[in-house]
Amino acid sequence: MGKIKVIGPQEANGEITISGSKNSALPILAATLLTDERIILNNIPNLADVNTMIEILENAGKKVTWQDSTLIIDTVSDINSILPYGPVRRMRASFNVLGPLTIRNKYAKVALPGGCSIGVRPVNFHLEGLKKLGIESQIEHGFTHSKYIGAPDKTHISLPFPSVGATEHLITTAVLLENTETILTNCAQEPEIIDLCNFLISMGAKIEGHGTSNIKIHGVKQLHGTEYTIIPDRIEAGTYAILGAVLGKEITLKNIIEDHLFSLLDIFEKIGINYKMKKNTLTIKGISKLELSPVDVETATFPGFPTDLQPQLMVLLSLIPGRSSVTENVFKTRFNHVDELNRMGAKIFVESNTAIITGVSKLSGAPLEATDLRASAALLIAALIADGETIINNVDHIFRGYERLFEKLENVGLKIEYYE
Ligand code: EPZ
Repeated sequence: MGKIKVIGPQEANGEITISGSKNSALPILAATLLTDERIILNNIPNLADVNTMIEILENAGKKVTWQDSTLIIDTVSDINSILPYGPVRRMRASFNVLGPLTIRNKYAKVALPGGCSIGVRPVNFHLEGLKKLGIESQIEHGFTHSKYIGAPDKTHISLPFPSVGATEHLITTAVLLENTETILTNCAQEPEIIDLCNFLISMGAKIEGHGTSNIKIHGVKQLHGTEYTIIPDRIEAGTYAILGAVLGKEITLKNIIEDHLFSLLDIFEKIGINYKMKKNTLTIKGISKLELSPVDVETATFPGFPTDLQPQLMVLLSLIPGRSSVTENVFKTRFNHVDELNRMGAKIFVESNTAIITGVSKLSGAPLEATDLRASAALLIAALIADGETIINNVDHIFRGYERLFEKLENVGLKIEYYE
C-alpha cells in the first residue's frame, strides 16, 4: 500500500472535471451479464474497482476493451457462472453478478463479497430477496452456491432497509424472469438506481417507478445489446466541492447534476459557504472559516445527505467555530477517520452513531493511517489545509473512487507526493 506526503496549508484555484460515477458503473457492469450481445458503455471511470469488475466479467466469459472512457463488452465464450474467489472477495459490488449468472446458467458459485472498515456488510437482504425470486443459495467455504428453481408469476419484496446494492441486485435479476411481475417496495432511490434502470430499459427491460421507493418489473425472455452513457459521480463532485470550501480560493467543478447534490448544497447554505450553480457547473469560493456557522447533519439514504460524503464534511466542520454534529444513520460505525483527524488537532467526540465536533482554528500535519476509500479522501483534504507535513499511510484505497486524482489536484494548484 502506498503513502502520500503533503505539506500544508495549500490553496486550490482552478477547474476540475468530474468523471463518470463509480457506483453507477459497477452495477451496470454486473448487468452486462444479462445478454451475449455487444454493449458499449461511455463515461466509465478508470478506477481500481471498475477494473476488478472487468476481471470478473472476463472470468464469466466476456471480452472487455477500454477505448478512452468507453468500454466495449463482447461475449467470447459460453457464460461461466463458477467464479474465482479473489476478485469478488476484493470488493462489495461484485456480489451483484450472482443473480444474473444464476438466472442465465441455472446455477452459480460466487465468493461472498469483501466487507470494508466502514462497517459489517451483510448480504441477507440480497439473498432473502433472491430466494423469493426462485434462487436458492447456501454458503460454504466463503462461497455462495446458488441454483434457480423457478420464479413465481408474481413476487412482492419489501426491503427491510432501502439498501442500494440489494435494490440493484434484485432489479438486475427480476428483469430476465420471463412473464413474471416483481414489485419491490422500500427501495433505494439513489441516482445510480435510476441510471441502472435506464441502462436496463435501453436493453429492452420493462421497469417502472425507478427513483421512487416502489419499483415494478415485468420480466422478459431476453435482453439485447445497447450503447449507454453513465451519469457523473456525485460523490467525487461532493468531495471536491468540500475540498474547495475547506481550502479553495475559487474552484469550478464541471459535469455537475444539481439534483444529485441538493443535500450537500443545502448544508453549504446553512454553513454560509459561498457557491454558485450555473447549468452543469458549480463554483465554490473558500472564505474565512470565522464567517461560517456550525451545523447538525444526519446522513440518510437519497435524497438525504450521503454517508459517502460524511468523512469529508467532517473535515470542514472541524474548522468552523462552535459546535457541529454528524449523525451516521447508514453505516453506524463509519468513524475510523475521527481518531486520525483528532491526531491533527481536531476536537471530535463520538457517542454511539453521533460525532460532536468543536471547531478549532487550524489543524496540524501528522502521520496518519487511511482505512477506507472516503476516509482517505477526508484525510487528504485535512492534510492539504493543515500546517506542516502529513504522511497518509495505506492510502491506495483512494484510487478505488477518484479517477486521475493527482492530475485533477495539480489542475487546481495542489501539490502532493505519492510513494509506493
Ligand atoms: C452502496 O453500498 C455504495 N457502494 C456505498 O458506497 C454507499 O456507502 C452505500 O451504498 C450507501 O449509500 C456501491 O454502490 C458500490 P447498502 P451498499 O446496501 O449497496 C445494510 C463508496 O464509498 N445492509 O445501501 O453495500 C448495510 O450494512 C461506497 O463508494 C444489510 O444489513 O450499501 C448498511 O448498514 C461505500 N443487509 C445499509 O444496509 C444487506 O443485505 C446500507 O447498505 C445489505 C445492506
